[in-house]
Amino acid sequence: MTSIITRIQELKKEREAIILAHNYQIPEVQDIADYVGDSLGLAQTAFSRTDTKVIVFCGVHFMAETTAILCPGKVVLMPDIHAGCPLANMITPRELKELKKQYPDTVVVTYINSSAAIKAQSDYCCTSSNAVKVVKTIPEGKRIIFIPDQHLGDYVRSQTGREMILWRGYCPTHRRIRPENIQQKKKLYPKAKVVVHPECTSSVIALSDKVASTCGILKYCQDYQDKEFIIGTEIGILHRLKKENPDKTFIAAGDLADCPNMKLNTLEKIMWALEDMESRVSVPDDIASLAIRSIQRMLSIT
Ligand code: 13P
Repeated sequence: MTSIITRIQELKKEREAIILAHNYQIPEVQDIADYVGDSLGLAQTAFSRTDTKVIVFCGVHFMAETTAILCPGKVVLMPDIHAGCPLANMITPRELKELKKQYPDTVVVTYINSSAAIKAQSDYCCTSSNAVKVVKTIPEGKRIIFIPDQHLGDYVRSQTGREMILWRGYCPTHRRIRPENIQQKKKLYPKAKVVVHPECTSSVIALSDKVASTCGILKYCQDYQDKEFIIGTEIGILHRLKKENPDKTFIAAGDLADCPNMKLNTLEKIMWALEDMESRVSVPDDIASLAIRSIQRMLSIT
């Protein structure tokens, strides 16, 4: 393991590369990264790092694609090109075209968990940390199509009171967190605060004390003086929570909330990505030039 870490550090210098990792990555990958964060933080960091030529993106495909759109002059590498996002694959460009035809004169707000081709057909992009804020900037009375996550859309609707047409997509990992799991954990830890991601179902959200993005969850648990937290999101986040708050107890709401795609990246694959400069992620210019408008609109609001 030590020799792989040393080799990665050498290659990073040689290639002028940085490693970005999502909060759901395996502990070793999080620990070697230059920045670990949520989708918004990762996009902002990729955009602002002008001092690097190569970005090794440890997350899932739509995140690397967003980075490629924001950083056209940089090489974006994925350690495992098969790390996809089932939620992002739940709407196709053709389906979105049909939806827009069915509901003309609507504003399309698209969760960042979507392909570049979908973002290219959208008015606004959003992440779990700014979806409410983005929707609030849209003039009252304008009808909104929110894609592809029905649960995040439902949560945003509840927070804004806006009329929204929701697509039926969902994250299979967050769906595996059931209200019964929270109730059982609450019996074992009655004083614990329940903190969940907005990709959870509304029946899980109804049992929570706080709803937030992965970085929002980290911040809440750090700031809050309580000592016990039941965490309703992908279990990879427990590594940072425990590392940054050694005096607190974190309990996974659902032990099955383990995203197999996020876990495809390993130290060995990072090393090979930097050795071979593969797998490169790029977006065709015609799609990137349209998709960037919705992403930049989001970044300017945030
Ligand atoms: P965050 O932006 O909250 O990190 O969420 C990303 C994601 O894909 C959740 O499943």
